[in-house]
This record gives sequence, structure tokens and C-alpha cells, in this order.
Amino acid sequence: MRRYFEMDSGNARRDPPAPRQAGVLVDSFGRSKRKLRLSLTDRCNFRCGYCMPEEPEWLPKEQLLSYEELLSVARLFVEELGITNIRLTGGEPLVRRNVPAFVEQLDGLRAVGLERISLTTNAALLERHAPALAAAGLDDVNISIDSLDPDRFRAMTGGGELEPVLGGIRAARDAGLAVKLNAVVIKGENEDDVLPLARWAKDEGVPLRYIEFMPLDARGGWQPGKVVPEADIVAALKGSFRVEAQPRTREPATYYTLDGDYSIGVISTVSNPFCSSCDRVRVTATGEIYPCLFSPGFTDLKTPLRGGASAEELLGVIRGAVWQKDAGFVVNSGYVQRGITMHALGG
Ligand code: 5AD
Ligand code: SF4
Repeated sequence: MRRYFEMDSGNARRDPPAPRQAGVLVDSFGRSKRKLRLSLTDRCNFRCGYCMPEEPEWLPKEQLLSYEELLSVARLFVEELGITNIRLTGGEPLVRRNVPAFVEQLDGLRAVGLERISLTTNAALLERHAPALAAAGLDDVNISIDSLDPDRFRAMTGGGELEPVLGGIRAARDAGLAVKLNAVVIKGENEDDVLPLARWAKDEGVPLRYIEFMPLDARGGWQPGKVVPEADIVAALKGSFRVEAQPRTREPATYYTLDGDYSIGVISTVSNPFCSSCDRVRVTATGEIYPCLFSPGFTDLKTPLRGGASAEELLGVIRGAVWQKDAGFVVNSGYVQRGITMHALGG
């Protein structure tokens, strides 16, 4: 097995075939997978410019995996392949009906090794659903919030309202869900929100992570000059706080302590990729396996699933897809040209 740091030509070798060890899902660089990101829908009630096309064409409903199919996929990943964490993503997962009932079904997978159920949401519909989600067994939510200014929030989300999102954050906390906030920072759009967001999140005691703008937007708007690199975000924070870097962990974010009592993170996919320790795999709402956010292609799981493949055959498809995972952003850096964009890939 080649190690990540030994690779030279960019792509993983395609042989030998993926190992078939029970409870293990590993790529050819030796990175084992623990986290599955499962998209429930490509639809969204927002239109963030860094994610959505201006006029999205939604996938036909019959192409989406049913909850029954999603559950059988999740069960394979957990029971047979050692996945311990499942994060539900979108589009916006809460625009799909009956998400709490699906969470309750996932909750049943704790008996076979699932440890954590998470949700990434824009929180516009969270106020309504937080109590049921918590009761169903959801552990935590990641909520996107790029500005505390209602006008800028509306501009960045293509018409989203800030107030219901703030209500969603409160409701999630009241329901006992662990809450993390994510803010994408884009030069010329919201870099002056870095400090107000930090002050507010610190006062509220909610963890916040900034995310560098990644070249995955659907409108071709990404340019290197629009990325606010981690170093600039930290410099902005230093204007108001005493900032100390924390030792890096396996997490995608680098964490900093502000004034000795609050942790803030930066996910610097562009300036400092964390691909060498990546333990994730993604499945879209239509059952396509994307081993990496930047994967140029996918592996179709839906066709064998609907065609009556055996569990062993499906496991072979998943293992093979993950084994072929590229090194990551270090290889496919720059603009990713492909048919799928973030709204179908789940961030
Ligand atoms: N760059 C960085 N983050 C993005 N997200 C979506 N598109 C991009 C992009 N181009 C993030 C959003 C959200 C999650 C679903 O994905 O911030 O938190
Ligand atoms: Fe919707 Fe999230 Fe994409 Fe914004 S980032 S358009 S909220 S899926």
C-alpha cells in the first residue's frame, strides 16, 4: 500500500484491488474512512452564490434514493465497513420531508457501531424541526451563517432571511443539540464580517469555523484572489483578540484560542489542505459515491442497488470507489470542471 506522502505522480495506483477486510474502508493511501456524508436532496431554499447555480435544475425525484434505500446504504457502511459517523447534508436536507423519522431509523444503527448522527443545514427550517430531530437521536448540527447583517445575508444566500436562521440556532441549542457555525469567507463580499461573527459567537458561546472559499461554486465565480486565506483571517482576529494557535488535530479545522477562553476554527482547504488525514466519503442523494469533494468522477451505487445486487457486490462497489480516492485537493486543485456542484454534493 502506498502511503500518502510517498505519492509522486498525483494519482493513486489502481492496483492491487481494495482489501476486503470486515469493518475496514480504506483508500490506497492508507487513509481509513470513519465518516459518511449522506446527501438527502440537491434542493435548497437558499441560493448561496458559492454553491448554487443561479437557476438550478433539480434532479428528478425518482432518481433520489428513497429513505429505505438510504438506510440500507447507511447500514452497509456502518455494519460492514466501520463507519462511525453519519452526517446528513443537502442541498438543504430539511427541505426533504420526514427527516426526523429517517434520523430515528439511523439511530437504530447505533447497535451495529454508529456513534454519531449529524446534520449540516442552513437552519431556515430548523426552528420547526429541532425538537423532533433531537428526540429522534440527532447529536449535532452544523449551521451555515456568513454574515450577521440581514442585507448582506440576503445577498449572499440569494434571498435568505437571517432572522429564522438565528431562531433555528436558538431552537437547536434549546433542544440540546450541539451546534457549530460555519462561515464561508469571500474577499469583496464578507471579509469584514470575520470580526463581528467572532465577537457574537464568542459572546453566545457557540463554536464557529471560517471556511476558505473553495473552487466548487456553480457559477464560475471562484478566483484565487477571492480566497481569504487562513493567515488573513487570523490577522483580522488579532485586531481584537489575543489569538493563540492550538496544536493541529485530525480535524479539518485549525483551532485558535481567543482571549484564553474561546476556540475558533479555520478550515483552510485552499491554503492548507487537510487531505492527508481525510477520513470521509460522500454519497449523493442519487447514490453516487464521491470519495472526495474534489473527485472529478463518481461511482454509481444506485444502479446495482436497484438492480438487486447482493450485499457482497455492493460492498465491492463501495470498497473499489474508496480505494480509488485521489490524494485530494493537492491533485485536483484549481477549478473543478464536472457536472456536479456543491448543492448536490453536500459541502
Ligand atoms: N466553498 C466553501 N464552502 C462551501 N460550502 C458550499 N460551497 C462552498 C464553497 N464553494 C459550504 C457551506 C456550507 C456547507 C454545506 O458547504 O458553507 O456550510
Ligand atoms: Fe443551500 Fe447550503 Fe448551498 Fe447555501 S450552501 S445554497 S444553503 S446548500
